[in-house]
Amino acid sequence: MKNTIKELPYDQLFEVIDKNSVSRMIDIACHKGEHIHDILQPNFPDAEIVGVEPKNVNFVECLKLKTEKLNFFQLDCRALNRDNVGVFDLVWSFGLIYHLDDPTQLIKPLQSITHERSYVCIEGHVASKNEQAHMPNPNPPIISKTLDGEIYHGKMFKEFDEEISDSEKDQLDKASLDNPWSFWLTKESAIVFVSASYH
Ligand SMILES: C[S@@+](CC[C@H](N)C(=O)[O-])C[C@H]1O[C@@H](n2cnc3c(N)ncnc32)[C@H](O)[C@@H]1O
Repeated sequence: MKNTIKELPYDQLFEVIDKNSVSRMIDIACHKGEHIHDILQPNFPDAEIVGVEPKNVNFVECLKLKTEKLNFFQLDCRALNRDNVGVFDLVWSFGLIYHLDDPTQLIKPLQSITHERSYVCIEGHVASKNEQAHMPNPNPPIISKTLDGEIYHGKMFKEFDEEISDSEKDQLDKASLDNPWSFWLTKESAIVFVSASYH
């Protein structure tokens, strides 16, 4: 089956999802479980939910929410596969893709943990000329980068100083896990990128 890619405002997302077809879902980079508690459980009260969060500072808070239908794994998104988390009808990944220096590292593992009718909801910042104008200096310019043999446009974004310790990185609870720079795709490149990387 061919994938369909839709760009939707958040409030229309649940209009296109057939909730009856979703019995198992994953929130990748679930932070302290806020989206699970505030969005996913209310919208899918009978579904089994798995939260994935790599940072100790967040994961300890996730464990406090654990129930029979809600489980958590302390994993880097780059390590996800069907052997460690299984397969999902819906993948939810908000606020993660722009924290990676290579966004294919999120998309590629999705092949293993989805089936041909799965929904994949990805949210994140994109680089744009408008956004460039509003960010503080230094704000790296839009550049091109080769990912998986294809050229995409975007900009580098500094997550933290390269010298900081692992425990300091862990305390930056909303930042990247270990890469000091991330790559923000432009919207146009993000759409082409998802079509090319996920099939
Ligand atoms: C900006 S927060 C977004 C949290 C939440 N999903 C939301 O939208 O509010 C970024 C999250 O990505 C997580 N994260 C960073 N790098 C990650 C990686 N390589 N794999 C999985 N999660 C990662 C962080 O620990 C943090 O919880």
